[in-house]
Amino acid sequence: MNKYLVMVSLTAVLAMCGEKSAQAQVPKKVPKAAEQARTTLAAEPVPPVDKAALAEQAKAAVQALGGALKAKLEAAMRTGGPLAALSICQIKAPELAKAISDEQGMAVKRVSLKNRNPVMGAANEWQTIVLNDFETRKTNGEDPATLAYAEVVDHEFRFMKAIPTAAVCLGCHGTNLPPALTAKLTELYPQDQTVGYKEGDLRGAFVVVKNLTQ
Ligand code: HEC
Repeated sequence: MNKYLVMVSLTAVLAMCGEKSAQAQVPKKVPKAAEQARTTLAAEPVPPVDKAALAEQAKAAVQALGGALKAKLEAAMRTGGPLAALSICQIKAPELAKAISDEQGMAVKRVSLKNRNPVMGAANEWQTIVLNDFETRKTNGEDPATLAYAEVVDHEFRFMKAIPTAAVCLGCHGTNLPPALTAKLTELYPQDQTVGYKEGDLRGAFVVVKNLTQ
């Protein structure tokens, strides 16, 4: 077997721009869909990895990105409103993600089942399985703020942390947006799927990936 389920316990992980600090737990049981996906991969030797250290690093990367984005978004919304704050999610988020990825030596980004930007935010097959599993776990009563999953698979350490929709997010991802904002969003993102969210809905997840062969 080249894949190991990594157990990660997070304390005080901030969801991106979210209000809650929370203890996130990786499921003890491997989600069935994720298990199926893993068994389709060929067995290959894997170098020894310090999973606990990787998990700590992923946690730090997510905290850094989430904390920075939340602070910038809230400040911009306060001073200029949603139209002025658009550039935070549009330009600042990828810039911050890149800076933190370089600093940590791990790729950090945000993905979602539904997207505003279909290029930047689309989830791949593995991420889609985990996002769907987060939805199931939420439906089964788990707190969205605690949903996380980590695993070593295919020579990669992979970590995902759910992003619940906070009140501040509704300004651009909720319902009844101001007409000027809707017009701007339609112009920038003609295929936008990310309005109509309610507080507490899963908006997506942070993804952290580290290639273990380098
Ligand atoms: C000021 C408007 C605005 C606010 C407020 C806002 N967003 Fe966004 N969000 C955007 C825009 C614009 C994009 C598209 C960014 C791009 O082009 O990559 C986006 C993209 C995203 C994405 C990437 C996936 C996708 O849909 O393309 C996630 C995840 C996300 N937002 C989560 C949140 C969360 C969580 C909050 C609240 C904490 C939030 N956003 C608040 C405007 C906003």
